[in-house]
Amino acid sequence: KEIFLKDYKMPDYYFSKVDLNFILGEDKTIVHSKIIVCPRDEGGTSHPLILNGIDIKLLSIKIDENQVKEEDYKLDLRHLTLQSPPTNTFTLEISTELYPQKNTSLMGLYKSSGNFCTQCEAEGFRKITFFQDRPDIMASYTCRIEADKSLYPVLLSNGNLIEQGDLEDGKHYVLWEDPHQKPCYLFALVAGQLESRDDTFTTSTGKNVSLRIWTPARDISKTSHAMYSLKAAMKWDEETFGLSYDLDLFNIVAVPDFNMGAMENKSLNIFNSRLVLASPETANDGDYASILGVIGHEYFHNWTGNRVTCRDWFQLSLKEGLTVFRDQEFSSDMGSRTVKRIADVSYLRNTQFSEDAGPMSHPVRPHSYIKMDNFYTVTVYRKGAEVVRMYKTLLGKDGFRKGMDLYFKRHDGQAVTCEEFFAAMRDANDVDFSNFLSWYSQAGTPCVKVTSSYNSKTCSYSLKFSQEVPPTPGQPIKEAMFIPVAVGLLDSSGKDIPITSFYHDKVLQTIASSSQLSSTAVLHLTKKEEEFIFCNIPERPIPSLFRNYSAPVRVDSDLTDDDYYFLLANDSDEFNRWEAGQVLARKLMLSLITDFHQKKPLILNPNFVSGIKSMLCDSRLDKEFISMAIRLPSSSEVMDLMKVADPDSVYAVRTFIRKELALQLKEQFLMTVKNNRSTEAYKFDHHNKARRTLKNTALVYLASLNDLEMRDLIMQEYHSATNMTDQFDALVAIAQNSGKDRDDILEDFYKKWQHEYLVIIKWLSLQSFSDIPGNVANVRNLLNHSAFDLRNPNKVYSLIGGFCASSVNFHAKDGSGYEFIGEMVLQLDKLNPQVASRIVKSLSRWKRYDESRQALAKAQLQKIVSTNGLSENVYEIASKSLAA
Ligand code: ARG
Ligand code: ZN
Repeated sequence: KEIFLKDYKMPDYYFSKVDLNFILGEDKTIVHSKIIVCPRDEGGTSHPLILNGIDIKLLSIKIDENQVKEEDYKLDLRHLTLQSPPTNTFTLEISTELYPQKNTSLMGLYKSSGNFCTQCEAEGFRKITFFQDRPDIMASYTCRIEADKSLYPVLLSNGNLIEQGDLEDGKHYVLWEDPHQKPCYLFALVAGQLESRDDTFTTSTGKNVSLRIWTPARDISKTSHAMYSLKAAMKWDEETFGLSYDLDLFNIVAVPDFNMGAMENKSLNIFNSRLVLASPETANDGDYASILGVIGHEYFHNWTGNRVTCRDWFQLSLKEGLTVFRDQEFSSDMGSRTVKRIADVSYLRNTQFSEDAGPMSHPVRPHSYIKMDNFYTVTVYRKGAEVVRMYKTLLGKDGFRKGMDLYFKRHDGQAVTCEEFFAAMRDANDVDFSNFLSWYSQAGTPCVKVTSSYNSKTCSYSLKFSQEVPPTPGQPIKEAMFIPVAVGLLDSSGKDIPITSFYHDKVLQTIASSSQLSSTAVLHLTKKEEEFIFCNIPERPIPSLFRNYSAPVRVDSDLTDDDYYFLLANDSDEFNRWEAGQVLARKLMLSLITDFHQKKPLILNPNFVSGIKSMLCDSRLDKEFISMAIRLPSSSEVMDLMKVADPDSVYAVRTFIRKELALQLKEQFLMTVKNNRSTEAYKFDHHNKARRTLKNTALVYLASLNDLEMRDLIMQEYHSATNMTDQFDALVAIAQNSGKDRDDILEDFYKKWQHEYLVIIKWLSLQSFSDIPGNVANVRNLLNHSAFDLRNPNKVYSLIGGFCASSVNFHAKDGSGYEFIGEMVLQLDKLNPQVASRIVKSLSRWKRYDESRQALAKAQLQKIVSTNGLSENVYEIASKSLAA
């Protein structure tokens, strides 16, 4: 059933207080709930009270201590409806029975490695008890948990522990009380054999907060980075937004079976263990960075999500877009701002742009959904974060802060919509943002065309912009967007020309001299076409457009290759230096793809080689910046730019360029490896991470030469590595080339790490995303490996999801890749619909390929939708993919 934003109705009943009592057992769990129900219209007319409930057995139901008679309620597969409840505040008591040990969906209450845990967002609470499972029902909760003391010595829930004690038969109980009102999706419970790393944080107001990170005993040593990250996040939020923690206790629990990354339950965050546990030996720089970002993210939700929450699930980006933006800023401040920005923009382009151009394209605030779980998307999260970033670009740092302050002042304790955030930003700064809200309602990536001209007589420079938003499913015609364009103008020496004023629609706009960034002006595009004219420009400038990627759009400008080489060498905006290199690389790849199709010999433009060379040898540049600048755009990014996506030609051209660069710059790459080794103990900081990234990027280039000398070098790197970053990257470099070395070393690595769950996940993905020919057979074999488990989402994402990342193997001409994915989706759907639906997304863009691939992929989608008993999750993705 499809649900629409326009159909939102206020609830007829509010819940003010919820007391839960869990009796956890080995074959069943009993849940008693006692709810104070307040009719919105106290004393008015009676409305039915509809409670959600799935996969749970109703034991009893009472109103004001009286058993409700059978004729006074209705029970179906998904609801419990009370026909005419009292019209004044009453107490509702419901008992249910559930079977967490059989719950493979990992939603609601389930078991992971012998421990109980919960995941309630978005709609998992209804798998625990009958409830109005919607975020605008906010209540204060208590939670009593009763369980066997030896099996479940630790019993956790939200808020403060107010009582605990022993019971008969080796059982014990605890009572938790959460003083803050919350929607049920923030409820959490954990029970099991866990130990904690303890620390404290003193808030700026002097409150001492106990911090605890819970894991099985053997993993405690791997939690120090997570604790460091948590403390850094708490401090950052105080310094940056004036936001302090609001309870005396903050818990984080790591579990190995988790559908997503992590969950911000009030004072009891539950994490996928891959985003908590790290040691230098078992985790790499990427893992350390993700942990920092996600620990920050979930912590920041305490204000942006929990204190101010969403009115309904269509508003998801209100909390997720904002919180992603906050975690991005946090990571920037903890490391390198430019590098973080480049990584985030690349990710957006690689994932969100293609989502936005496909059958699942939806606005940051979707208009409808069948299954909310399908809308935890890169559009809601990442494009949503870009929308928040645009407010900051438009208002400046101080203006943005004023908007945030007003947002909390107005809405603390409320469940609100995206308009409320917009209004706070607007009102705090007294600005007119005209059509900015269309960022929430229009899907599709806008394309902005820019043409420039210089008039030497009048010393004026004109930039003409036109914008177009492509049609998307259900939205054939689009309005113009409000697009902030941060521009700089470079003179022939490469310096920024100060911009003091410009004409827009014949109106002179002066830039306040106080603004520190007079070298960058932020233009406001609001129409389909418009022109900006800059005066007193002494020579024809080179424009640096969309500095720091000021809007999530595609840009098509009339700049020449020479202009881009100039920007690459000179732009004061480091993001745009990287961008200029990427534009050149994309153009180069597309022209080589044309040559490849025409069977012309491939020749690499020497300007490109020398561009890469000068980056590689420029000791003034940040090393991580260099490694990002010398990396080629991804296959999926390039395929997106083709009329008919052709994975084979993209692969051929990418491989050709890599190898050619390795041949021509072998000396430089070797020097890079040599100069960036270190014998010091692993340290996760920007300097060391940058050094390792650059070294290992060079190593991957060298490996493409596939000669004996390089083989020896990389083997040596592998064997001498003292941390997972160096070891794994050497392994990746070796595993590019098929052969005995590859097999031996993969085996060696497995033997070494078979008891480390998180390393095994890496080992699986390393093999699944490989481009070596015919890899589908290896991946199928790995399904039967003892290291694999179809019920563990991380393993599925590594092996099956990872496979889809190899465009040559996933899109194999014979359809073997599609067939494999089709089979896996159906198997997974029976166990865990959310995981299955993430995997089926890989088939959604079938129309981008040639006819024979289209037919093969379509056949799999058809097979999937016509399967009996398919979940709504998979049905939504597969049917929308076929319909578009
Ligand atoms: N709110 C979580 C976050 O921090 C994501 C939870 C998503 N869960 C789900 N079952 N869809 O991003
Ligand atoms: Zn989040």
